Amino acid sequence: MLKKVAILANGGDVSGFNAVIRAIIKTAERNGIECYGFIEGYKGLLKNEYVRLSTNNDANASGILPKGGSIIGSSTNANVFNYKVELPNGEVEYKDLSDICIQNVKDDGFDCVFTLGGDGTQKSARDFFLRGMNVIGVPKTIDNDVECTEITFGYNTAVSVATEAIDRLHTTGETHHRIMVLEVMGRYAGWIALESAIAGGADIALIPEIPYDINSAVKKIQDRIAVGKKFSVVVVAEGAIQKDGELVVENVRNNGKGVDNNKLGGAGEKVAKQLEELTGLESRCTVLGYMQRGGTPTAYDRVLSTKYGAKAMELAMEGKFGTITVIKNGKLDYATLEDVVGNNKEIGAVSGNTPESSIRKVKMDDDLIKTARNIGICLGD
Ligand code: F6P
Repeated sequence: MLKKVAILANGGDVSGFNAVIRAIIKTAERNGIECYGFIEGYKGLLKNEYVRLSTNNDANASGILPKGGSIIGSSTNANVFNYKVELPNGEVEYKDLSDICIQNVKDDGFDCVFTLGGDGTQKSARDFFLRGMNVIGVPKTIDNDVECTEITFGYNTAVSVATEAIDRLHTTGETHHRIMVLEVMGRYAGWIALESAIAGGADIALIPEIPYDINSAVKKIQDRIAVGKKFSVVVVAEGAIQKDGELVVENVRNNGKGVDNNKLGGAGEKVAKQLEELTGLESRCTVLGYMQRGGTPTAYDRVLSTKYGAKAMELAMEGKFGTITVIKNGKLDYATLEDVVGNNKEIGAVSGNTPESSIRKVKMDDDLIKTARNIGICLGD
């Protein structure tokens, strides 16, 4: 019998965090289980900072379904298995502090910890599970790149925001005969770019999974001009790479070992410049950035998050620890965290979004790829 459980939200914010938190609490409350939330994800677990969560009328988790962000915060780049510690003499050391976290959970009497996050968060969750902690994951990220699930919460909202941006860019493109480039997020996967390009009726979509030849995009634009269409809309994933080219990185951070220190950015501007030079048409680049992560979730994300939260609590009550809620063949289900981490087996060394991490990229036989090709969206190959 479960008595007390804790939730942690980790990684970049997405719309839907609060909807998952609410669904876990509501399902717990209906079963007489107390809910707590660690503050700022794994950092809160390490510092043992947590709050009681309740959906009663004036309580902290009341009315949170449509709210963006996370009421219990979230931390990025907190790999507690390889944690950056600054020593008094200013030097930096990396330490495995996971034992402190495990002890905290034992001392607090939490029967299960729900880990809401992307591949990095779930890698640490799996590592904690191997060290004896009861954990259940919930797959979050706008990038939609967590293994074993067809969709992560937050993704649909990001695609909706990107689609609206494409609609709006059409207006300027059409009026001024310009090439309008939209750079979207997604890290090393092209889901947001591809799906929003289809939803927004873009002409070209460049994604990390298909290294692009700029001449292929130029040809598409020229073909459009030939039939009287004097503007084009191009969606560029931040992780898009030119054939024989390199990832376009805005800066390299120093957030620690085993986390992704690449801050992507600039792929859209690069494409816009090339297209202007090669077509002679004026080009403009818009970088959508954090607009994709913030604000209220779509109805789809509210429902998905609620399904995920309720299912996570159900799995906990069934004692199915070391698992993660997923959508498989369109149905709510669960997978093991072991499957989610794939070959990234070594405990602690690497958390997420690194070359070693296991992420779900767009496959060439995906319906989205086939659909894009069928309707003539140029994918840069
Ligand atoms: O993983 C989510 C995401 O928004 C990516 O799409 C993007 O590359 C990255 O996070 C940005 O990270 P940060 O919040 O550290 O700038």
